[in-house]
Amino acid sequence: MRLLVCGGAGFIGSHFVRIRAREHGDEVTVLDKLTYAGREENLADVRDAAGFRFVHGAIEDADAVADAVEGADAIVNFAAETHVDRSIAEPDAFVRTHALGTYTLLEAARAAGVRYVQVSTDEVYGSIEEGTFTEESPLAPSSPYSATKAGADLLVLGYVHTYGMEALIVRGSNNYGPYQYPEKLIPLMVLNALHGDKLPVYGDGQQVRNWIHATDFARAIGHVLDHGVPGEVYNAGGPDECPNLDVVLRIIELTGGSDDLIEYVTDRPGHDRRYSLSSDKVRALGWEPRVRFHDGLAETVAWYRDNAAWWEPIRSGEYRAYYERHYGRALG
Ligand code: NAD
Ligand code: TYD
Repeated sequence: MRLLVCGGAGFIGSHFVRIRAREHGDEVTVLDKLTYAGREENLADVRDAAGFRFVHGAIEDADAVADAVEGADAIVNFAAETHVDRSIAEPDAFVRTHALGTYTLLEAARAAGVRYVQVSTDEVYGSIEEGTFTEESPLAPSSPYSATKAGADLLVLGYVHTYGMEALIVRGSNNYGPYQYPEKLIPLMVLNALHGDKLPVYGDGQQVRNWIHATDFARAIGHVLDHGVPGEVYNAGGPDECPNLDVVLRIIELTGGSDDLIEYVTDRPGHDRRYSLSSDKVRALGWEPRVRFHDGLAETVAWYRDNAAWWEPIRSGEYRAYYERHYGRALG
């Protein structure tokens, strides 16, 4: 297949590109704006793959999209602003990328007559105290991040109903694994613990997340691309749920740190208490997660410990300013 992968230089997108180029022999074009979260280095080991092409550009730029989509059989869209805390502080880019960007890609897919897969999130369903979300659950997003992702999903479904487009949506739960930007819970806690820095736990730390390894989520997206029914939504959740505090304690254990590093800080506004996702529908297509959280977390901690060359430039760049802006006062 010839794939246009938007946002392929980010965390999950780069795992997807690696799997599709190496294991499926797909010819991949990546279109990526290279925001603070996108890095060409994430694709270093597929740069030489047959048919690989990198286009630097934004998904809301119709000219860049027209160039990138040339010759593609399908578009898979990972491109997004992805950090809830940043969406609370500065929602502008979230609206632009998720609304205008998704619209621009849908128009390009429609003009080219190609299949379109939108990568989405369980956060569009909001928080669930008990039970588990299915694809039929109503959308009730809580943050500018999840609200704009839900808007993008609805636009995709509008194109399916109006134009009969061959579009599909995959909603994932919380991802973890190598190459995740260290603003997110797991890499942030791992790098802080390795440096002996404070570990900022929001509120009481009893919020629950459903963890999926990024390679499992990437494979679920590939499965939906290859076998999904056009117009359908598929949830892909991980095999394990875990309260945040337990995640942090396990990271402390794996890094040989001390519980004294934990600092309880002011809770995130509108913080969702629990996410839980049923994946029965995508499992019926033949997908299942391969990595249990206990093992995947140990492997992820080892990856960050062994790949300082990957995160050192990040920790000393834009991230430092963000970190001070966001945590400075709480952590003194
Ligand atoms: P990420 O922040 O690591 O990467 C996002 C990528 O998109 C970056 O390479 C960035 O440069 C690119 N990008 C951002 N705006 C762009 C634009 N306007 N045009 C072109 N490229 C742009 O994100 P991620 O964690 O890999 O998430 C990928 C997708 O998966 C997102 O759509 C996200 O909503 C979804 N998702 C993420 C998670 C998670 O836990 N990380 C869970 C479920 C779903
Ligand atoms: P995050 O990785 O931002 O993902 P999401 O908000 O999409 O679930 O956060 C995961 C959980 O960890 C969430 O409940 C918020 C919490 N959290 C902290 O307690 N401290 C932190 O410094 C961060 C970044 C997150």
